[in-house]
Amino acid sequence: MSKQLLFTPTSVGPFTLKHRVVMAPLTRMRSSEGNVPNEMMAEYYAQRATPGGLIIAEATPVSPYGFGYAGAPGIFTQAQVEGWRKVVDAVHAKGGVIFLQLWHVGRQSHSLLQPGGIDPVAPSAIQAEGYAYAQSGAVPFGMPRALLLEEIPAIVEEFRHGAELAKSAGFDGVEIHGANGYLPDQFLQDGTNKRTDAYGGSIENRARFLLEITSAATLVWGPGRVGVRLSPSSSYGSMHDSDPEETFGYAAKALDTLGLAYLHIVEPRIKGDDTLDKDAAPVAVHYLRPLFSGPIIAAGGFNRESAEELLFQGDADMVAFGRAFIANPDLPRRLQENLPLNAYDRDTFYGGDAGGYTDYPFAAQQVSSE
Ligand SMILES: Cc1cc2nc3c(=O)[nH]c(=O)nc-3n(C[C@H](O)[C@H](O)[C@H](O)COP(=O)(O)O)c2cc1C
Repeated sequence: MSKQLLFTPTSVGPFTLKHRVVMAPLTRMRSSEGNVPNEMMAEYYAQRATPGGLIIAEATPVSPYGFGYAGAPGIFTQAQVEGWRKVVDAVHAKGGVIFLQLWHVGRQSHSLLQPGGIDPVAPSAIQAEGYAYAQSGAVPFGMPRALLLEEIPAIVEEFRHGAELAKSAGFDGVEIHGANGYLPDQFLQDGTNKRTDAYGGSIENRARFLLEITSAATLVWGPGRVGVRLSPSSSYGSMHDSDPEETFGYAAKALDTLGLAYLHIVEPRIKGDDTLDKDAAPVAVHYLRPLFSGPIIAAGGFNRESAEELLFQGDADMVAFGRAFIANPDLPRRLQENLPLNAYDRDTFYGGDAGGYTDYPFAAQQVSSE
């Protein structure tokens, strides 16, 4: 019997949401020249917008040096602001709420993606395993250069500026991308941060960059329109920490003092299986829930049943869906009416045209049998 907690109202900052099915941030690499969002992106987001439903728009670099995926949209030029306005207006026209995810990939890049062909930056000069997506295709992550202490304030300022531009584009708020092994995560976890200055060593120091960029965004928006995404259990991008409970517990408690819109947690998944395994990693929403007093969004491998179960247990307030939202523009309706889901096509996830982007079918309207 369905509990349907997904379709009860909740709130995020000043917004009352009509349901708890959140669209997860999804990099699709379909922006136009100059990393400018376009009409096709506006159509894609509008298709997925619902009245009172929260969309977290894809990871968007705040700096030309923050890219690891060619074709990702940016938020550092006026042309990008104009492009994003089309997306935001299209979502608002359908009554949706849309936050923008602010991004800097740090070491998950390559000199081919950097202006002037310079090396990407990181807290420490440690190379990650994996691939960046240059115009020419996938390239192994490059060897990063360790940021000088005096360079860090300029990156914090880039996040503040990105937050400000997101506001002028009409977004409802921003999410700091602190997950998946990108720059803030590289500062946070001790496997990637070997610094001996004020940004390395103790957890207080390693969390400093994340807290500074989050605070910078709250100065622009007020805290109720800023969320943060963390992925305590993900090893993507060669990430590891010697004490994830301590590290992410500290981060959650410190973020809690800011009074944020929400904390967004990527949950552990069993490989090849879309069910949750609470024992797969020590740090998941179940552990973090008591440490953060605001709303929590959980993401990662959820289906209708496991999402309902998590809400029922009370470990999160909302559930974000990624791949299911790619393939199902009307995902909230399908979950509510328990309709079958379209399968996703992995080959069209990253880059390309409207194929696998705006052409996934909506479920047929139900014909009354009366
Ligand atoms: C194509 C694709 C692009 C993604 N892009 C982002 C992104 O821009 N930012 C982010 O935080 N996570 C990103 N993710 C991770 C998703 O937000 C989500 O956490 C992940 O897909 C697990 O959720 P799911 O099982 O519902 O798909 C991406 C995932 C996929 C498949």
